[in-house]
Amino acid sequence: MGASKNDKLFSELRINNIIFKNRLGVAPMTRMSSGQDSIPRKDVLDFLVRRARNGAAVVYTEAIVTDYESAQGYPRQSRLVTQRQIEAWKPIVEAIKKEGAVAIMQMFHCGRVAATGVNPASRVIAPSPLIPAQNNPITGSPYPMPDEMSLFDMQHVMWGFADTAKGAIAAGFDGVELHCAHGYLMNQFLSAYSNQRKDNYGGSMENRFRYVHEVIGVVRKVIPQDRLFLIRISNWGVVDMDVSLFADKAEWQEMIRLFSKEPIDAISLSTYDYKQKAFGTDKNMAQITREATKLPIFICGKIHDRLSAEEALADADLVLSAKSILLNPDWVEDVRVGKTLPVRKSEEANIAYTDTPLA
Ligand SMILES: Cc1cc2nc3c(=O)[nH]c(=O)nc-3n(C[C@H](O)[C@H](O)[C@H](O)COP(=O)(O)O)c2cc1C
Repeated sequence: MGASKNDKLFSELRINNIIFKNRLGVAPMTRMSSGQDSIPRKDVLDFLVRRARNGAAVVYTEAIVTDYESAQGYPRQSRLVTQRQIEAWKPIVEAIKKEGAVAIMQMFHCGRVAATGVNPASRVIAPSPLIPAQNNPITGSPYPMPDEMSLFDMQHVMWGFADTAKGAIAAGFDGVELHCAHGYLMNQFLSAYSNQRKDNYGGSMENRFRYVHEVIGVVRKVIPQDRLFLIRISNWGVVDMDVSLFADKAEWQEMIRLFSKEPIDAISLSTYDYKQKAFGTDKNMAQITREATKLPIFICGKIHDRLSAEEALADADLVLSAKSILLNPDWVEDVRVGKTLPVRKSEEANIAYTDTPLA
């Protein structure tokens, strides 16, 4: 099976002036490999270039931490705000682009999903002083109680996002993604599960969206018009995983409509399983999202072979893979030829956090 005229998977996607050569990409994957300098290990950076060489149309960075006060949630994450950090990423971005792939930096603030002592300034902040119901799986202890973010904190965090986006532009990235998924800070503002503020940043969806709107506005200003600005969103978080972070289809679509009014270029949807019907309806997340936006949609979640990729693309514009492409350097080509491929288990992906260089 090769690329044919009607082969959507291997057709180009154009967003503004950026061309994706096919519809398969590398999802953001945190590898926790950085040293004191907040720069990922060389083999971790080289891995991204190799996936571009082997056919991925787009390569995401791991979630890059923003400010130095409270943004980091895991040990050994990376940053992109100092000249040294920018210089470390430059040749990697250049090499990814030389291979014909689009390079996107994802940026993140952990909010309440924080580990005590990980941040240089050791502060934990969130929309509301609420801890997740579950313990931190890394420490086995409850998460630290966050301070409710003051307006000053909100400004500080906002500038952290803008500075990190500036770093990405200086390093040559084609685009920047604001991580609004998986129960981290931006997602904590959006969801009533973690946002119980009494000011005009809490309450209605419009209010809960307000801070994300403000961050998008400040960040967009530092991203030139010829680069992309995306957001990633999910209905689930890495803590209290079974909780539906949004009440129902109507609330989800209201949020998607608000995002659609923002100066962003695409929405990246993260699911456990792209096929799963959502919010008690007979539609999956991509279908429900599509009903509410005209923006391009990236879809991710258990897409492991040609059939699942084609099926997922019926309701989206581009497929991202994490575990399958992490564990198989030839994944894009294997999908192209229609090889039988396994659904990967979470435990298999733990290799991402070891010192073992990946193929
Ligand atoms: C090792 C690893 C690290 C991840 N780190 C991130 C991250 O930094 N940012 C993010 O948005 N998602 C992250 N994810 C989630 C993936 O991007 C993806 O949404 C999820 O694994 C489901 O896709 P899959 O079924 O193709 O693995 C990570 C996943 C794995 C396996």
